[in-house]
Amino acid sequence: MNELLRVEQLRVRFPVYGGVLQRIVAWLPAVTDVSFHIERGETLGLVGESGSGKTTIGRALVGLLRFTAPEVAIEGHAWFTPSEQARPIELLSVFDGRERRKLRELADGLSPHELRTRLRRHIQMVFQDPLASLNPRLSVEQILAEPLQLHFPELSKSELRDRIAWLLEKVGLQPEDRFRYPHEFSGGQRQRIGLARALATHPDLVICDEPVSALDVSVQAQVLNLMEDLQEEFGMAYLFIAHDLSVVHHISRRIAVLYLGHLVELGSADEVYFAPLHPYTRALISAVPIASPRHKRERIVLRGEIPSLLNKPSGCPFHPRCPIARAECAQFVPPLEEKTPGHWVACPYVD
Ligand SMILES: Nc1ncnc2c1ncn2[C@@H]1O[C@H](COP(=O)(O)OP(=O)(O)OP(=O)(O)O)[C@@H](O)[C@H]1O
Ligand SMILES: [Mg+2]
Repeated sequence: MNELLRVEQLRVRFPVYGGVLQRIVAWLPAVTDVSFHIERGETLGLVGESGSGKTTIGRALVGLLRFTAPEVAIEGHAWFTPSEQARPIELLSVFDGRERRKLRELADGLSPHELRTRLRRHIQMVFQDPLASLNPRLSVEQILAEPLQLHFPELSKSELRDRIAWLLEKVGLQPEDRFRYPHEFSGGQRQRIGLARALATHPDLVICDEPVSALDVSVQAQVLNLMEDLQEEFGMAYLFIAHDLSVVHHISRRIAVLYLGHLVELGSADEVYFAPLHPYTRALISAVPIASPRHKRERIVLRGEIPSLLNKPSGCPFHPRCPIARAECAQFVPPLEEKTPGHWVACPYVD
């Protein structure tokens, strides 16, 4: 096994403010005890309804959460092994809500600052709305030059120009596009710029948060194909976050399913998509229209609404809506169990 990233017991809680003094009155458990790993070069799909914690997981891993929620409480561990390094770097190590974020290298030699810069180079992010994530005042050339100059300061001016031209070609844009600004492009083209920017530093992992959700279906397919081609050529892994299950099934090797911040199922893309085991995944998948006569599906309609995170049910978070729930389900949070090799399900009552 060639492990790139390992996340253990990640827990993220956001403060809820109230009263005239705007004190913290409660904590919103956005992500609870989530563990998974990503292998080098693979695509792990992360699915779940709106608010299930997908974006929060991605942002926690790249250290972005503090910008939007300074008082967020993060707990858990994550280790990351860049390609040129044999041993993992501790990416995330925080306890008890008080931040003790450490970038500790298990092999000696680099300062924390050097490590942080290196990690930024190896883990990139692509966002749903490229217009919001690309600086509107910078031309494409400037947007792509930024990461290149930061991470490869030794590049000469002409090498930089060559590298930018090469990146544009890799993502299917024209050399002249370097002089244009983000607003002058279509949505699909903008996402190509976002991909070029992510690719610029030769990352090992690209966290893609709903990268095609804002695009027309025909453009979605083009961008997905491009992402697959780039992965084949450069070998980076994707954490592919989306709520569209057919898109995720198409691009992923494995799929992880989130419900109210809990990981409820994790397995190969085909198993999770064609033979889901967790009652929640079954309901989610049963709602996806399929065109294959080999696989028949009956629509499972769940009772009730998805509960608020502030009133998260005790025990298994899914039990109030679960068709096979028993009294015990309210008592304890079921751990992920490996039902068949590589297929993990957080429910003791399915086989
Ligand atoms: N900065 C924040 N401050 C407070 N609460 C937040 C913050 N960011 C996210 N949340 C809450 O955490 C929960 C998980 O949000 P998150 O954005 O991770 O969901 P998601 O699965 O990405 O949903 P979507 O599919 O809509 O993008 C939500 O209830 C959300 O309201
Ligand atoms: Mg999101």
